[in-house]
Amino acid sequence: MGPLIAPSVLSADYANLQSEIARAVSADWVHVDVMDNHFVPNLTIGLPVVEALLTRIELPLDCHLMIENPDRWAPLYAEAGADGVTFHIEAAGAPVRLARELRRIGARAGVALKPATPVDAVEGMLAEIDLLLVMTVEPGFGGQAFLEMCLPKIRQARELVSRSGLEVWLQVDGGVSAETIERCADAGADVFVAGSAVFGADDPAGAIDNLRALAEARSETG
Ligand code: DX5
Ligand code: ZN
Repeated sequence: MGPLIAPSVLSADYANLQSEIARAVSADWVHVDVMDNHFVPNLTIGLPVVEALLTRIELPLDCHLMIENPDRWAPLYAEAGADGVTFHIEAAGAPVRLARELRRIGARAGVALKPATPVDAVEGMLAEIDLLLVMTVEPGFGGQAFLEMCLPKIRQARELVSRSGLEVWLQVDGGVSAETIERCADAGADVFVAGSAVFGADDPAGAIDNLRALAEARSETG
């Protein structure tokens, strides 16, 4: 499976989500950032909007929960039909139980790491997850500069996944653009979230194709 591009609707027009997503027609997944103004200092959308999107869009929905108490809320996104549900390890009370619950409901279970959280935090539970998200900005806002300091962590995460022999997607999120995606791909990422680089472009579908081509070229040489 080649690299996947997941445009983040955080940078889209929230008053026209359905038509904005239609402009990103070449996306592999649609990334939805749920923020509660507690885990991160910003507030976006929650379950009712995700439920509404699920009735209208055909692309797989990749929900990134930047919220406190994911143990309570994350399963509800899976029950609503989200394809992937990613919670932060820093916020989860019982991450293994939660990952198992998400899988039992039928969603892809994802775990996210803030930039300062080491990969060790999830090393023991790789077999319980389908996706590991290494944040490349401090979560909370779109349009921030990519944190170069996260590249070694992506590499470390890739090594860990390869050594385990498990099938775990390695996702990066934050400051991913045509300038940074190749370095992320070189480091071993295979799912790329991009908000401003896609929805800030005149032609979001073209921007997605361009990002995918850049990532593909690196994974072929790597
Ligand atoms: C940030 C979110 C990201 C955000 C990325 O906390 O998790 O998904 O939308 O935006 P860009 O690609 O603009 O950095
Ligand atoms: Zn995100």
